[in-house]
Amino acid sequence: MDKNLPLIIHLSSSKALAKKVASILSYPLGEAESYTFYDGEEMVKPISEVKGRDIILIQSTSRPASKHLMEVLIFVDALRKNDAKKITLVTPYFGYARQDRQIHHNDPITASLVARLIESCGVNEVIFCDIHTFNTPKFFHIPTYNIEMTSLFKEAFLKVMKDNHYSLDDVMIFSPDHGSEFRGLKLAKALGVSFGEIYKIRPRVDETRIKDIEGSPKDKVVFIVDDIVDTGSTLIEAVEALKELGAKAIYVGFTHAVLKENNYQELLKHDIKKIYFTDTIELAFHHDETSVLSVASLIASKIKETR
Ligand code: R5P
Repeated sequence: MDKNLPLIIHLSSSKALAKKVASILSYPLGEAESYTFYDGEEMVKPISEVKGRDIILIQSTSRPASKHLMEVLIFVDALRKNDAKKITLVTPYFGYARQDRQIHHNDPITASLVARLIESCGVNEVIFCDIHTFNTPKFFHIPTYNIEMTSLFKEAFLKVMKDNHYSLDDVMIFSPDHGSEFRGLKLAKALGVSFGEIYKIRPRVDETRIKDIEGSPKDKVVFIVDDIVDTGSTLIEAVEALKELGAKAIYVGFTHAVLKENNYQELLKHDIKKIYFTDTIELAFHHDETSVLSVASLIASKIKETR
């Protein structure tokens, strides 16, 4: 094994993705071991020799978010204590990014706390995929890189257009809320199609109501893009509203499949032609494999670019 090459390591999340990235880059895959004590205390450490090495730790802080986050913090501490040279944390899905501002009185800003924890344990740089908002990178004082999904969704939707003989005029991109406006706009520009936006309110954390819709989906093939699907309520409300306004077909692309199986099954009951999501989160339940777009080559390119 060439000790000058960066060493890629995964912990208990992102296993398949880390292997794909290592294989694309032809970098070695290091090993770690972990143990959870009866009270939930985590122990995690490298088995591979890390002294003097450039380490790339790939781990989404997805469900269970706190366990995966603690694994990162403990592991990085072990890397530091064992003289790793450089530590890059790749969190394809950065859990806790949704709590990035105070919306209600007494709210915490957990994304900023998590950024401080990651930084203080000794990470040198962080790579995210489609970070929820640009507040989170601002909480860091080390370099951060956000990988956008425009090219992945562009490729998938272009294929849909080609296979179904849709012209650019037939198609419209919609963002299901204001937070995803920049994603939708970028994709619409990249595809050369028009853009519409939905404005939503959240009466409760798991409930969505549509306030307003900008742009008409009438007789259009609509692609909805978002970063996260959790309960699915944002997406379902968007699909139903756009259908009611005359959308002729609806496709969906989202980056992070935070959702549980019930929510996924619920999505399938709605009139969606095809759902695309990425492998930033490894799903523990059966799903349509052809729906999954891999972020591995985008991550591999970013790792290369930062070295
Ligand atoms: C919100 O700001 C995000 O972009 C997603 O729209 C949201 O997290 C989706 O959540 P849910 O699926 O629970 O509606």
